Amino acid sequence: MTKPLYVTRPDLPELETFLPYLQQIWQSGVLTNNGPFHQQLEQALQDYLGVDYISVFNNGTNALLVALQALELKGEVITTPFTFLATTSSLIWQGLTPVFVDIDPVSLNLDPNAIAAAITDKTCAIMPVHCYGNPCDTSAIRAVAQQHGLKVIYDAAHAFGVKHQGQSVLQEGDLAVLSFHATKVFNTIEGGAVICHSAQMKQKIDRLKNFGIVNEFKAEAAGINGKMNELQAAFGLAQLPGLAGALRRRAKVHQYYCDALARIPGLQCVPLLADGAPNYAYFPILVTDEFGMSCKALYEALKAKSIFARRYFYPLTPVLLDMDIDESCYPVAADAAERVLCLPMSGSLTQAEQDLVINAVIEARGQV
Ligand SMILES: Cc1ncc(COP(=O)(O)O)c(C=O)c1O
Repeated sequence: MTKPLYVTRPDLPELETFLPYLQQIWQSGVLTNNGPFHQQLEQALQDYLGVDYISVFNNGTNALLVALQALELKGEVITTPFTFLATTSSLIWQGLTPVFVDIDPVSLNLDPNAIAAAITDKTCAIMPVHCYGNPCDTSAIRAVAQQHGLKVIYDAAHAFGVKHQGQSVLQEGDLAVLSFHATKVFNTIEGGAVICHSAQMKQKIDRLKNFGIVNEFKAEAAGINGKMNELQAAFGLAQLPGLAGALRRRAKVHQYYCDALARIPGLQCVPLLADGAPNYAYFPILVTDEFGMSCKALYEALKAKSIFARRYFYPLTPVLLDMDIDESCYPVAADAAERVLCLPMSGSLTQAEQDLVINAVIEARGQV
C-alpha cells in the first residue's frame, strides 16, 4: 500500500538538539509554571519575530480566549466565516456575538468594506484572520477600527514569522494570537502565544493564563490554565535553529507546485501576498469550473490514492456550528469554500512526493 500523504507533516527538531534540554529538565525537576525554558522561549520568540511582548500558551485556542478576556469585550465582534472553528468558538466561549462578513476574493481575508458596513452600536471589536499566512489589509482595518473606536484582535494562527511592508504582521492590532500546533510552521507540539504592546498588558495576560493569580493570597480575575509546560518550551527552543532551513525548503516546495500546477487549466494557486517574508504555511488552490471536476470530486480522487488534501475551510464555520445565517451575507466566502483545497505542504515534502500529488491531479482531470 502507498504511504499516505497528509496535508502537513510536523517539523521535528533534531533529536540531538532536543535531548540536552530533556536532560536539563530531568536534572532540575522543573516541569511547568513559568520555568526557565518558558522564559527563554518568550525571549527568543520576541527577538526572532521582532515583536514588543509575547506570552506563550499551551495552545492557540486558550491564547485566543485569554486575549479576548484581557480586552474585557462585550457585544458583537466582526469576524470571518472562512477560518478554522477556534476563531469563532473562542468568541462564543467569551459570551461574544460573532458577526460574519465577507472576504476579499484574492486574499481570502476579511474585506475592510464589508467590516465597515457591518458595524452597529453593539460592535466592540474586529477579529480578522491572516488566512494561510497571507496578511490582511491591516492599514484599512486599522483605519476602520480607529474611526469607530473598536479593538482589533488578529487570529494570526497561520502567520508565524510573516513580514509585510518591512514589519512583522504580528505587530498589528491590539493583540495578535499565534498557534504552535504540530501542523504549524513553528510548533511546540501544542502551543500558542499572544503578542501585545505594553508591559502592563503582558502582565495581565500572564496572570490570566495562570488562574488570574497575583500572589499566594490574591487573584486579580477569574483566569484559566493556559500555561505552556517546559517540555513544550524546550521543543520550541530546539526547533528555532532549524527554522530558516525549513522555510527555505518550504519555499522550494511552493515554487515547484506553482510551476507544475500553472500548466493545468482550471486550477488557481492562492497568491502569496506577504511582500517581506511569507511563511509558506499552506498550499491552497482554487478549483474553478474550467477544471471540469468539482473540488469535492478532486479531493475524493486524491484520497483514493492516499493523498489526504484538506478542504480548509469547508464547510464555513457558521455552517459547522449550525448557526442560522444566510450564506448571501458572505457570497465570496461561500464560493471559496466550495472551491478550495489545501495540498500536502511541509518542509520535508520531497519532490517525488510532490510529483505523486501533481500526477494524481492531472490524472483526475484526465478522467473527466
Ligand atoms: C485560524 C486558526 N485559529 C485558531 C487555531 C487554534 O489553534 P490551536 O490548535 O493551537 O488551539 C487554529 C488551529 O489550528 C487556526 O487554524
